[in-house]
Order: sequence, then C-alpha cells, then structure tokens
Amino acid sequence: MKALAGFRELYPEETLRRSVILSTWRQVAKRYGFEEYDGPTLEPLELYSRKNAGGEEILGQLYRFEDGGGRQVALRPEMTPTLARMAASREKHYRKPMKWFAIGNFFRFERQQRGRLREFIQLNCDLLGDADPGADAELVAFAIDAMRAFGLSAEDFVVRLSHRGAWASFLKGKGISDDQVPGVLQIADKLERDAPEVLEEKLQSMGLSLREVKEFIQGPTPLELHPIMTNLTSRGLGDFIEVDLSIVRGLAYYTGLVFEVFDRSKTLRALAGGGRYDGLVSGLSEGAVDLPAVGFGMGDVVLGNFIAEVPHAEALMQDRLAEARTSDVYVIVADEARRLEALQAIQMLRDSGLSTDFSFTPSKVGKQFQAAEQARAKFAVVVGSEWPNVKVKVMATRAESEVPHGELAEWLKSQQV
Ligand code: HAM
Repeated sequence: MKALAGFRELYPEETLRRSVILSTWRQVAKRYGFEEYDGPTLEPLELYSRKNAGGEEILGQLYRFEDGGGRQVALRPEMTPTLARMAASREKHYRKPMKWFAIGNFFRFERQQRGRLREFIQLNCDLLGDADPGADAELVAFAIDAMRAFGLSAEDFVVRLSHRGAWASFLKGKGISDDQVPGVLQIADKLERDAPEVLEEKLQSMGLSLREVKEFIQGPTPLELHPIMTNLTSRGLGDFIEVDLSIVRGLAYYTGLVFEVFDRSKTLRALAGGGRYDGLVSGLSEGAVDLPAVGFGMGDVVLGNFIAEVPHAEALMQDRLAEARTSDVYVIVADEARRLEALQAIQMLRDSGLSTDFSFTPSKVGKQFQAAEQARAKFAVVVGSEWPNVKVKVMATRAESEVPHGELAEWLKSQQV
C-alpha cells in the first residue's frame, strides 16, 4: 500500500534536508527578534468557514470531518486564523508589537501540481499591534532574508508588492460596492491562469472590463506602497522588490499590503505570500480586540525544489548537510578481547556529549576505518593492545596520538579539528 497522493514519506536524507531548511528559518527569526509559538493541527471548522476568514478558495480545500463527539472539525490549512484567535485571547499579556513565528504542518486538498502537496510545512511570521508601514516593510525584509539565508540572491528571486487598499480605491472609483470587492479580487487573483474571454465575462458581470483592470495594473505605483519601498530601499533591499498590482492574493482577509515571493524565471509557484490583515483579529473576537497585523507564510516544498535548481544555493545546502552529518568519534575495536573496555570508553564519550559510533559485530580494522569515514567522524579511537591507553587518529590529517582512556573525552574536546 502506498502513502496517499500529496503526502510525503521523508527518508533520513530528505528529513535532514528539511531540518536544514527549518533550522535556517529559525536562525533568521532569531535575527529579527521573533518568538516561536504553536497551535493545534485540528481546529473547529467554523474557524475557517466564518465570514471574513480565508474565503471560498481555502474553504474548498479543507480536510474536514465530524469527530467522535459529533463536532465539525478541519485540519488546519493555514496558521493565520489560529494566530488571530490566540492573539485576541491573550492580547493584554504581551507588549506590542507582538513578533511571533511558527513552523508547522498544514493540510490542503489541492489539485496535484508541481510544488503543491496536500501536507506541507510553512514558516509563518506575523507582527501584531502595529499599523505602521514600517511594520509591513519589516515583514518583507524578513521574507527576503529568509530566502537570502539559503544563498539565494536578487538574481534568483523577487518579491512582488501590491496593495489591497489601492485595489479598493480603484474599484470604488469604478462604482463597485464594498461587498462586491471580494468577488472582483477573486477574479483578479486568476488573471494569469484564466483565459481572457473567461476573465472578460466574469468582470463584465461585475460591471468592469478587462481593459480597465489591466490599465490599473499597469498604472503608477500606488501611494500606499511608497513608504514601504523607501524603507526597503534604505536597507539596501531595493533590488529584491518590484511593484506588481496583479498580485491580489487568494485569501480574503487582507486589507493593505499584499506580497508574494517568486523565482525570477517564474517557472515555480509562489515561494511565500503574505500581507496586512487589520480586521481578522477583531472579526474573530467579535470586535472585542482590535489588533492590526501583518505577516507572511513560506512553504518548504517550493523552496526545497528551488534550492535544488539553483547551483550556488544547492552547493551551500550540500555544505550544511555535510556539516550536519559530521560525527565526533568512531571507536574501532582492534582487539576483540578489549570489546568490554571499548564499550566502557564509548559510554564515557557519549556521556561527555560527543557523538560516538562503532561496529556492534567483530570486523576487520580496515573495514572499521571505512565505517569511520562513512560516519564522517572527526576522530577514530582505536581500542587495542595499547590499553589502558588508546590510539587516536585525526581523520582529516591522519595524525596519530596515544592518550590514556580516562582522559580521552577531555583530550578530544581540547583538539581544534
Ligand atoms: P498562502 O499564500 O496560502 O498564504 O501560503 C503561503 C505559502 O505556503 C505559499 O507561497 C507556498 O509556498 C506554501 N503553500 C501553500 N499551499 C501549499 C501547498 N498545497 N503545498 C505546498 N506549499 C504550499 C497563507 O497561508 C497565509 N496564511 C500566510 C500569511 C501569514 N499571511 C499572513 N500571515
């Protein structure tokens, strides 16, 4: 029996790649002063189906069912509603702005396509309690640095910026009513995917034409984006951003800045996406807590594919994998009569925190050295006729020393290898 389509089985080498991605994300989050939080994987269905939540598209992708207690529940397709609920209920406990990040698994019943799975991991970074465009810029900078941390440069990827506020003003000018706006944005979100005739028909039914929409998209940069762009340019990140008003984002709750990260050749799906959602916390708390918020989500699937395609990013990944695979010591039992002493030494090395491996069954010394190479051990420790001393070989230089076994751990730790 196979795993379900869209769900991954990760073998150790793939899990290691993924853990390099997650630990790199965590390092960047630390640099930006964000704190980690987490939430439930299973949520009440209502969190996603209520008005002003994510909207129709994500609702149609839910894994939903009735649990044993007759409750309607859903596997989380995204973090933002959970975060908004958590923020609303403990808002008073935290100084503003709250700068929080989470790394977790998400589930969407997506159509099968490259870069899209049905279970994936997302880094979510959000800043709550600050409505200033400086907060928007901070989150875009964070997304850029989360990409740069993998060796990716402005030649490899771009962040496309747009603004729902600018869209709202444009639509208002065309006589579109507030409650029609989400419908128009949903059509606009498919500008690159739907055929022009289909788009024209859908837009006409809303009282708009494709030409009007295209004129807006090709028009001047909206004023709302100016402070964000100036901020990012001052940081030296101007090369990473472009204005692209065709970005509207599929999720309904965005109210201001919206942005997506793409590979420059645009052969892959979006690597990350986010924006400002000033009404979500208030909506979820029935108006009790009003917290402006901005954030983004970055997935591990497209990013992993992208890294593998960009030679300098893949080279950096290989270095990190090699580093992660390195172990400290491989103990070689050169004389089977000394196996019990070897076990004693191994336990002592592990107790002192050194990663230590060895062969459980007797084998030739040459074979054990090969195993030490494969384990990427920094040192081989040979237990044999020299006992109570042991022979230590630095694997990289082949330099040998003899050390009393009782001093072995300290001696190894004092070596700069
Ligand atoms: P999203 O655009 O739906 O935004 O997802 C963000 C990223 O998650 C995407 O750019 C993609 O890398 C990854 N992703 C989404 N769906 C899949 C999938 N089926 N398979 C693989 N990767 C996927 C959100 O989820 C918002 N909640 C982000 C946000 C946080 N906005 C504000 N704060």
